[in-house]
Amino acid sequence: MSFGHIHLTDELVQSVRDTIDIVDIASDHTRLNKAGRRYKGLCPLHKEKTPSFSVDPDQGLFYCFGCSQGGDAIRLHMLTSGDDFPTAIESLARRYNIPLPKAPAGARGKKPEQDIEPVLEAALEYYQNQLGAHSTPRAYLERRRIAPELIDRFGLGYAPPGWRNLLTALGSKHPERLLERAGLIAESRKKPGERYDRFRERLIFPIRNTAGRLVGFGGRALDDDKIKYVNTSETASFRKGRLLYGLDLAKRSIRESRRAVMVEGYFDVIGSVAAGVDNAVATMGTALTVEQARLLARFADEVVVGYDGDNAGEQAYRRSIPLLLGTGLGVLRVSLGEGADPDSVRLDQGDEVLRRLVEDAPDAVVLEIERVSPEGIENEPRRQSQAARFVVELLGAVPDSVLRYGYARQAAGRLGIPAELLLDRLRGRRGEKKQEKQRDSEGLVRSLEEKTLQLLLAKDAVVPPSADLPPEDAFLDPSCRNIYRAFRALHKDGSKSPPAARELLARLPDQGPAVDRMARLLLEISVGSDSEELKASVRQLERRWRQQRSRELAAQITKAQRAGDRQRLEELMTEKAALSRRLHDRSDQPER
Ligand code: UTP
Ligand code: MN
Repeated sequence: MSFGHIHLTDELVQSVRDTIDIVDIASDHTRLNKAGRRYKGLCPLHKEKTPSFSVDPDQGLFYCFGCSQGGDAIRLHMLTSGDDFPTAIESLARRYNIPLPKAPAGARGKKPEQDIEPVLEAALEYYQNQLGAHSTPRAYLERRRIAPELIDRFGLGYAPPGWRNLLTALGSKHPERLLERAGLIAESRKKPGERYDRFRERLIFPIRNTAGRLVGFGGRALDDDKIKYVNTSETASFRKGRLLYGLDLAKRSIRESRRAVMVEGYFDVIGSVAAGVDNAVATMGTALTVEQARLLARFADEVVVGYDGDNAGEQAYRRSIPLLLGTGLGVLRVSLGEGADPDSVRLDQGDEVLRRLVEDAPDAVVLEIERVSPEGIENEPRRQSQAARFVVELLGAVPDSVLRYGYARQAAGRLGIPAELLLDRLRGRRGEKKQEKQRDSEGLVRSLEEKTLQLLLAKDAVVPPSADLPPEDAFLDPSCRNIYRAFRALHKDGSKSPPAARELLARLPDQGPAVDRMARLLLEISVGSDSEELKASVRQLERRWRQQRSRELAAQITKAQRAGDRQRLEELMTEKAALSRRLHDRSDQPER
């Protein structure tokens, strides 16, 4: 996701890569101790008691042997800050005083995206001034008992009534086109070409991303007859589903307590903070997305769901449970009472009550188990079975096997059946997925492919000539194949040493599993590369690939024979001959 703050050039990315120091970045989040040429420490990305986080300053890499995440310094910054790639580059560039290039003025090719953040900031300043100048919205906030410190903390503002206030105020300094792209003004449908303010007579909530950059606004009507909320329209820079309102302010408290409170709305966040619950964030509505769940999991170990105590809130809470569990988060539920939300609890019953409710929030999985297994269910086989199915579904979302077992035992107790029955069903459900996983990432396939890559990538590797390297298809594991592809693209024939870790990382297609894998492979290389061993494993890989290809060819040849397709048959036979010649070359001739 791009917020369009800066002009992201290859040169900028490269100079950030060249300048930033992995030890520096890691030290912001954990205490590192020197261990040989490396550093070790407690992993900042997951909770642990013994250090499994390793940093290699020479290669500019980190890897955690506990949570299996790894990569370069940029990735570490992204994982700890929640920044997306462009934002990460920008804030790292600022940190290391790397000059930021200016966007070229609309020259050839793709039109460069102009930065909308200054426009948003200018609008916010205007709205904040207007709040100072109007007593109606201030009286409204006072009625809702939002103290001035909170107005400041959350940067609230006010858009006065009228169609062209913002346009008039900002129009001379900022082109209308930009105001429109920032979602602040819209074009009239009745009179094309005529523009008007999107936010009118509304309280304004600035919405920032995790890193604190302004990305949009929410506007609440002061009058309950009007449409209650208007938000910045969804654009590339403003996607509600990837943001959590208040996370920029709450992230420190969440990281420290390892706990977040997830509520629906702007006022719920502000009300919670007013009551002393300062780790509150809002999904801005009830539709929690996977991205939001993952965002939370970067900072918290557990989430207290504080959705409204109405039908919509309850339904949304239930839908959120597997999503949150799936990211490894523990889930708790604060019951606020019929029709209440966190802000109304604070106002009606006081700060202390809200704090207590959040503090004592019960485990959501246990609550769900209790909900589907009421008293007497153990005597009703059909309901028992139905409840068991529900529980198994829920348990399937829990990644931690011990936790899963604990919940299964509780559920079994309530249902009056042995826990093994539930676990058996669960195993059945997971069986297929697991087999797939094993084939992909474990066992022989992996060890041969990983070993080959390590031998190829070690600093002192003597890389065979390109013609003798196996084809990409020889790597069956997708991450390994991606790493190998990056290697092939960067390695120059005849060059003495393999490409640098950070260039390889920069070439990997995503910020996902291939990056983690590569960081581990590079950090695990303990002894130097042995050229005989390298040749041997390259041969082995190739043989495996060739055998597989031969089998495929044999099947296709039979098929072509049956179909009487002579031309196809000829092609296949030629390939088969080439394949066995290659085998012959490789295994019988002396090494070059
Ligand atoms: P609510 O309707 O529960 O509002 O929507 P609220 O936050 O409790 O507001 P008050 O206390 O009645 O004034 C919850 C959240 O859902 C998002 C907003 O973020 C809102 O705070 N929402 C709701 C929208 O974005 N658009 C809507 O039309 C409605
Ligand atoms: Mn509400």
